Amino acid sequence: MARHIDYGTAAGRWAGLGPYYAMFPTGFADRVVREHTQAGDLVLDPFAGRGTAIFSAATQGRAGVGIEISPVGFVYAKAKLAAAEHDEVAHRVQEIGRVATAARYVESARALPPFFHRCFAAPVRRFLLAARDRLDWRRSATDRTAMAILLVYLHGNEGAALSNQMRQTKSMSPDYAIRWWKEHNARPPQVDPVDFLTSRLAWRYAKGTPECESSTVYFGNSMTVLPRIAARMARGDLRRAKLLFTSPPYYGVTNYHYDQWLRLWLLGGPAHAARNGNWLRGKFEHRANYETLLSEVFARAKRLLRRDATIYVRTDARKFTRETTLAVLRETFPTKDLVIRRRPVAGDTQTHLFGDFAKTAGEIDLILTS
Ligand SMILES: C[S@@+](CC[C@H](N)C(=O)[O-])C[C@H]1O[C@@H](n2cnc3c(N)ncnc32)[C@H](O)[C@@H]1O
Repeated sequence: MARHIDYGTAAGRWAGLGPYYAMFPTGFADRVVREHTQAGDLVLDPFAGRGTAIFSAATQGRAGVGIEISPVGFVYAKAKLAAAEHDEVAHRVQEIGRVATAARYVESARALPPFFHRCFAAPVRRFLLAARDRLDWRRSATDRTAMAILLVYLHGNEGAALSNQMRQTKSMSPDYAIRWWKEHNARPPQVDPVDFLTSRLAWRYAKGTPECESSTVYFGNSMTVLPRIAARMARGDLRRAKLLFTSPPYYGVTNYHYDQWLRLWLLGGPAHAARNGNWLRGKFEHRANYETLLSEVFARAKRLLRRDATIYVRTDARKFTRETTLAVLRETFPTKDLVIRRRPVAGDTQTHLFGDFAKTAGEIDLILTS
């Protein structure tokens, strides 16, 4: 049965930050962490996404280390692990609101491509441009938290987001969206972005911020970041992980680049849906590259694990992804026992959450133990 998020706690409110393609349901992540680790253990996720596994570890008395190559996933993950103080974030949102009235943002808001005019009202466009310019999400916890909240509400259902009617999880292509809005005579909501975000911040902070064990998510490619973490472990700065808990990108299914183009724009990317992300950002469609990615990342991750570590991988049940992942895991961890669970808990899968029933063959859990 699907577990619902408990919004009565700080951990429950922050766990849902933010909508992300192929994210772990939080109840599932909590269960896996509890079953396979004890308090004080380290959990590693080299494909961290919005940081569900790491946040689950951090809020259950474990520590977590994650790596994520998409700035969208990174901002969500890092913001929820270390949310800045409410009043600082609220203050920053107001500051951006004031800056947004400057002539340069009025001008640049006018010059944006047609999609933006149909998607956002003029004050929202100006606010987004100022936020894009000013919020230092790489370095400042306050700015990153403000950006994370802004990313959550950037697009979604009418009334629930800053945009004209759109899906929340996925950015639609500009041409498709414009056609749809014209056909439905849909107009961008006339909202004051500062008021809108201030009330969303109040909800998010109403139960405080979660107590997190010291945990982090690195922004980058696991191929290069894992060896850096291994060096930290060799120096004795970090213990080895008891649980490798991850979900690699699915072969040929999701595109964390094209499908997220509007949020990526807000983080500094181009103002159009770029199809030409490199292969690490695309749809993971090249078989040999895909296999290399999995084998290189799992081989590097192995060096960060305790001998008795559990490896818990959730992935797509479709043939190529399933067989490639199985082969890589068997080769990387030849002495471990393997358990395979198909569609582990009905209604509690990642694909279920984004409503893609027809196109997917469900998911599979591959669990290796000593
Ligand atoms: C299935 S998603 C993980 C979702 C995650 N379990 C969650 O709950 O949000 C796979 C993630 O791997 C990331 N990724 C792909 N290649 C990567 C790489 N080389 N290094 C780090 N992250 C990578 C993608 O950007 C994507 O966010």
